[in-house]
Amino acid sequence: MNKHAATMVRNAELMGDDIVGIFLSEEVLGSSSKTKPMGDKLRRFIHHQESIQCLRPLGSGIHGAVLLATIKNVKYALKVFKYWKQPGPVFDSYEKAIYTSPLANESRAFARLHAARKDGTWAVRCHGWMKLSDAQFRDIGDVFDGEGLSRWVIVKDYLPMLTDASHTNQILKNFAIPKELRLLPHDVLPQNYRGSQIVDLSCTLTSPCPEWSEFEFNLFYSETVYGVLDWFEDPPKRSFLTSETFLSRTLAFLLRPFCALGRSN
Ligand SMILES: Nc1ncnc2c1ncn2[C@@H]1O[C@H](COP(=O)(O)OP(=O)(O)OP(=O)(O)O)[C@@H](O)[C@H]1O
Ligand SMILES: [Mg+2]
Repeated sequence: MNKHAATMVRNAELMGDDIVGIFLSEEVLGSSSKTKPMGDKLRRFIHHQESIQCLRPLGSGIHGAVLLATIKNVKYALKVFKYWKQPGPVFDSYEKAIYTSPLANESRAFARLHAARKDGTWAVRCHGWMKLSDAQFRDIGDVFDGEGLSRWVIVKDYLPMLTDASHTNQILKNFAIPKELRLLPHDVLPQNYRGSQIVDLSCTLTSPCPEWSEFEFNLFYSETVYGVLDWFEDPPKRSFLTSETFLSRTLAFLLRPFCALGRSN
């Protein structure tokens, strides 16, 4: 790749309107019309044009800011995604990179759960995507300063219940669902859970996709997932440093650059 082409790839806009049709669909989620299956395209939130009454921030992280809002008298959690560029040091072509943004990850995972009729089981129920209008974007300005935020939003149920030790067995059991659907979560942490449901899928990979690793998928469901049982143990029952998990995770981590190089060729 020449220098100019490499710069183009690095700065490519990965959250432009053309993502509608790639991993988002204009089809409304919950519409009763009989339509063809959408594959891994997330459908649109039915009330996407309604005004938003913002109540308060719920949290924020590297991928987005989440707020509690009321739309048509129903409370929702709205995740407003931050602008995103490929982090490097290896840069994928545009065609591949478009599938690697946090918004793409979350959209494709929720779309697959919806297609399998598993909404609100392993993960929080998702109501689809919306793109904020100027007026809606001004409304959320009451709660966030808007800095770095895109207009793309994923709408979810608001889950007020924090996760505690009483949820971990159910959380572990529920992993049969993403395993069956070939979803590989990367951010399985108590802070990404409410009750027994995961609320954050922006690091979850949906096979097939550019960053997919069959090795990591098998490792996750055979070992990593059991770490959930340690979340509220003090001190943890399993010693991370002496476990096989540590060795295999380290190996997976060390192999990542080689996998990425393979992808860029
Ligand atoms: N549906 C929800 N109901 C209640 N709280 C939520 C919901 N979704 C998210 N939150 C809260 O907002 C926080 C941030 O959400 P989320 O993890 O999706 O954002 P993120 O940008 O991916 O964060 P990070 O990069 O830290 O993982 C969560 O840790 C949780 O506390
Ligand atoms: Mg999170």
